[in-house]
This record gives sequence, structure tokens and C-alpha cells, in this order.
Amino acid sequence: MIYLKTEDEIALLRESNQIVAKTLAEVGKYIQPGVTTKYLDQIGEDFIRSCGAVPSFLNYNGYPASLCLSINDVVVHGIPSVKTVLREGDILSVDCGAYKNGFHGDSTYTFRVGEVDEKVVNLLRTTKESLYLGIEQAIDGNRLGDIGNAVQTHCQKRGYSVVREMVGHGVGRHLHEEPEVCNYGKRGSGVLLKAGMVIAIEPMINMGSRHIVIENDGWTTRTMDRKPSAHFEHTVVVRKGKAEILSSFDYVQEVLGDRFI
Ligand code: MF3
Ligand code: CO
Repeated sequence: MIYLKTEDEIALLRESNQIVAKTLAEVGKYIQPGVTTKYLDQIGEDFIRSCGAVPSFLNYNGYPASLCLSINDVVVHGIPSVKTVLREGDILSVDCGAYKNGFHGDSTYTFRVGEVDEKVVNLLRTTKESLYLGIEQAIDGNRLGDIGNAVQTHCQKRGYSVVREMVGHGVGRHLHEEPEVCNYGKRGSGVLLKAGMVIAIEPMINMGSRHIVIENDGWTTRTMDRKPSAHFEHTVVVRKGKAEILSSFDYVQEVLGDRFI
């Protein structure tokens, strides 16, 4: 069942997603070599609560933290830990969800830790570009395959691979609603998009092969070849002519200045 949201519901979804957007920026202020992912998780949780929201991920299917903090070859669902220390040259995906007034927000930004190899910077740039190309397709009358195809075509053209097992999703009163939003697909195929659908588009793009492995903790998801992976996510509303992005990287941009890519 895909729920179409009313404008009143969209206003609440916008509020939750703006809290997520500000949380990503707040966490971004503290990203530097030497800090632990546990410390960053605490910054994120405190900020979310200071906005009158609740971390969406905490206790979701038993997930033990507020943020997913995934370094280098960790694709998604890295569990914050006092043992995980950021090092110069790492990339760190910060995936955040916030729940307020009955609705969730969900967005992800992959940050650089200090100076990062130009090849890895290109992976980040391409993944973020593919997110916006996917969003361009999120319009009334298109189909889900148009989004997936836009993401896949752009990333594969640059020699990267698309993770298949993890996908985007509807967002609303539940963090994960229908439909599943694949980052690959055929143009003109799949579910018809209608104005008022709210979906999270979240390309997970690998430098090497697309294959992943999930560790024994049941969460940490790595590339099988241990090469880096990037992840960017926005929650968007399907509209006629142009999608509306409910989350935002504007606050991250303010924090990163000319280091924003
Ligand atoms: N943004 C991710 C997703 O949409 C994060 C979920 S983490 C979990 O799937 F802990 F909540 F599962
Ligand atoms: Co998501």
C-alpha cells in the first residue's frame, strides 16, 4: 500500500526532514581525525532531541544507536562505537532519521575526513550527482524504473557499481513504507509515480564490485572486495513537473564552506 500524502502531512514531513538536515550539519562540525563514531552519535542524538524529535533508527528492529556511521568499505548500517576512530583520508557516511509529530525524516551525507584521495572524492561526487539525477525523475507520470535507471546509468558510466540488496523506500508515519526504490532499473518500468508520494532515494555506490557482506552483528554491511562505498540520501515528494526535496544539504554546505562538493 502506497500512501499519498496531503499537503498538511507533507508540511510535517518537511519539518522532520529539516531536523535531519540540521543534524547532519551539526555532526559534520565534529568530523575530524581522532574522534570516535560513538562521540558523533551522541552529538546527533542530543541535537535531534533538542529539536523535540526522537531518533528514528534507535531501537528500530533492535538497531542500537541514533545514527548509522559507515566508514570507507562499510556501505551502510555502521554501528557507532568507542573503538571506531576516524582517520585522515577516511570517508564517513552519516545516515540520520528523526521522528516528530507522527512523521519521519531520513537523509544521508558522506563526508571526507581531512584530505581524501582524489579517486575517492570522484566516487563521492558521482554518487551525489546520481542522487540528484534520480530526483529529477521523481515526477508525476514517471515510473520507479526511471529513477533507478538514471542513478545506475550515471554511476556505471563512471565505472562504479550499484548495490542491489539495499534500496530506498517510501517515508511517512513509518520510516520504511512502500514502495522499494531501487538504484537500478529500466526506463518506463515499475510503479507509476503519483503526486503526493514521498520517497527516500538513496544510492549506495561502490568503487569496485557491487557485492556486499553483512557482518555477524547483523548490521554492518561492507563491500565484499573491501573497496570504498559512498551513500547519499534525500527524502522527496513526487510532484507534477519537479520533485520537492524535503531534506537538504544546505546546512552541511554552510558548515563545510569551500570543502563542500
Ligand atoms: N536510512 C537507512 C534506511 O533507510 C537507515 C536505516 S537504519 C535502521 O534504511 F537502523 F533504522 F534500520
Ligand atoms: Co533511508
